[in-house]
Amino acid sequence: MSATWGKCKSVLITGSSRGIGLRMVKELAKSSSRPDTIIASARNPTGSTDLQELSKTYPGIHIVTLDVDSQQSVSSALQEVRSIVGNEGLGCLINNAAIGITADMQTVTPEAMMKSFQVNTVAPLFVTKAFLPLLQTAAAQSSGMGIHRAAVINISSILGSIKHNLGEGATFRSYPYRTSKAALNMVTRCLAADLGSDGILCMSLHPGWVRTDMGGPLADLSVEESVSALLSVLSDLSEKDHGGFKDYRGDDLPW
Ligand SMILES: NC(=O)c1ccc[n+]([C@@H]2O[C@H](COP(=O)([O-])OP(=O)(O)OC[C@H]3O[C@@H](n4cnc5c(N)ncnc54)[C@H](OP(=O)(O)O)[C@@H]3O)[C@@H](O)[C@H]2O)c1
Repeated sequence: MSATWGKCKSVLITGSSRGIGLRMVKELAKSSSRPDTIIASARNPTGSTDLQELSKTYPGIHIVTLDVDSQQSVSSALQEVRSIVGNEGLGCLINNAAIGITADMQTVTPEAMMKSFQVNTVAPLFVTKAFLPLLQTAAAQSSGMGIHRAAVINISSILGSIKHNLGEGATFRSYPYRTSKAALNMVTRCLAADLGSDGILCMSLHPGWVRTDMGGPLADLSVEESVSALLSVLSDLSEKDHGGFKDYRGDDLPW
C-alpha cells in the first residue's frame, strides 16, 4: 500500500462490521505504512466476530460503537473518538455505512425512500458535522490537501449518477438506493464548498460492484480487489480531487 497512508494520523470508518468497511480496516491495519490510529466503528461491534478477531490480530485498532442513524450514538462516539485522537484530531473520515433497499415502481414505499435517505444521505452529513471540529484540528496542523491532512470520503455509487441512469445504466431499478446516493453526491459537493477553506478534502467514491452482502455473489469484484484499489486511489488524492466523484480505479464519474 502507498506510503501516503503512513502520513495519515488517524482514520475513522463507519460500517466496519462487514463488507467493504471491514476489509478497509484489515487492509490498513496489516500494512507497514498505515495510520497510527485506526478507528473501526460499527452499530453493533460485539455482533461482528470478524471485527473482534481483527482487533485481536493487529495492534492499534480502536473499536467504537456508532449507529450513524442515531444522533445519540453519534454524540457518544464523538466523545470516545475525541479521547482516542487527542490533540492530533481526526485525519480521515470514511462514511461507508449504508443500506441497500431495492424497490422498483411496483414495490417502492414512502418508508423505503425515507429510511434510505436517512441512512445513506442524512447520516453521512450529520456524522461529518459532528466530527468536523476533530477534522479541523487535524487540518490546522498541516498544509496542502489529501489524507495526510484531513479528508471526508463518502462511499457513494455509480447508481447515484443521474447521467448514468439511462439506457444500459438504467437496468438496475431502485428508487430508494439510487436517489439516496444521488443526494449523497450533492452532500459531497455542499461539504466541498463549506470545508475547502479549512483544507479538508471532500469527495464521493464508487467502490465498483463488489461481492458483499449488498453487492451479491454475481458482482464483478472481490472485496479484496475493490478495497485495495480504493485505498490506492485515496492515497493519491490532492487538491485537484476536492469535490470530485471517482471510482475505485481513480477514473472520474459523471454526476
Ligand atoms: N457492494 C457493492 O457492490 C457496492 C457498490 C456501490 C457502492 N457500495 C457502497 O459501499 C458501502 C459499503 O457497502 P458494502 O457492500 O460493504 O455493504 P454491506 O456488506 O451491506 O455492509 C453495510 C455496512 O453498513 C453498516 N450499516 C448499515 N446501517 C448502519 C447504521 N445505521 N449505522 C452503522 N452502520 C450501519 C452495516 O452494519 P451492520 O452489520 O450492523 O448491519 C455494514 O457494516 C456502502 O456505502 C454501499 O452503498 C457498495
